[in-house]
Amino acid sequence: MRHFLTLKDFTKDELLEMIALAQKIKAQTKERKFVPYMEHQTLGMIFEKSSTRTRVSFETGIYQLGGVGLFLSSNDIQLGRGEPMKDTARVISRMVDMVMIRTFEHTKLEEFAHYSQVPVINGLTDSYHPVQLMTDYLTMIECGKHNPTVAYVGDGNNMTHSWLMLAAKLGFELRIATPQGYTCDEQIVQEALTIAQSSGATITFGHDPKEAVKGCDVVTTDTWVSMGQEDEKEQRLKAFDGYIVDEALMSLAKPDAIFLHCLPAYRGYEVSEETFEKHSDVIFSEAENRLHAQKGIMVWLDAHRNED
Ligand code: CP
Ligand code: NVA
Repeated sequence: MRHFLTLKDFTKDELLEMIALAQKIKAQTKERKFVPYMEHQTLGMIFEKSSTRTRVSFETGIYQLGGVGLFLSSNDIQLGRGEPMKDTARVISRMVDMVMIRTFEHTKLEEFAHYSQVPVINGLTDSYHPVQLMTDYLTMIECGKHNPTVAYVGDGNNMTHSWLMLAAKLGFELRIATPQGYTCDEQIVQEALTIAQSSGATITFGHDPKEAVKGCDVVTTDTWVSMGQEDEKEQRLKAFDGYIVDEALMSLAKPDAIFLHCLPAYRGYEVSEETFEKHSDVIFSEAENRLHAQKGIMVWLDAHRNED
């Protein structure tokens, strides 16, 4: 059984197969051709955190593939009242064909997958957001950035960890600038650097946004206060002073550099209003690509559901 928990569980070729599927299905969708790749299949969608994009894209995506999505908020199912994850997994996976989960600790997702009889997709954990990075890769290709130098400016969080894995697997250059005390998880960094040795990826870490952005093709960031960190908001806003992506910073990137943001965006904090609006076409194409990239992932997982 193949699950989609992190990008490190796949070869470069497998990730590219999923992207190729996403591109093919996107083209069909744009022609209003809805091919029932997953006819009569049910996708269980468990949410322990809020979501706009992940919920709408998965629910719409499975419907367009000929199946149906079940939105399962932890507030409404017994999981929220203390039923163990492993029991939830053993019940739900006997009834549905695939599961997507958004939760807190990555170990909770791994536990669910361990007990699941069907493929499980990570819809975001505290450690990773891999479906977003497949989306971001699809968006970069569409913008002609096939072998980009990417600068990530901001918090060393689930998005950064997934950027690390994407760069390490695909072999592009990634420069990360985080404030002291908000760097990436050291174990994830070491895993990414090990993978990077075989792909040829160049990954660098620092604390200077200007240094990271200089001459790059893609600039990206994420919220300074992720879901579950609301109590740290005040101290985080102070620590991230100077890390805003604004026009002064973007002027150091290549003139045709694109700006990506997984959304939701907090203007005046991680990105200025001006920079956000200037790049909004690409940002909202990126948001739409959640729908297309995840269809590629679901169809690929369905085709490989009997593999180890
Ligand atoms: N980018 C993203 O995952 O958005 P949502 O939190 O709205 O799902
Ligand atoms: N780092 C953010 C991503 C939101 C899509 C969070 O975890 O809240």
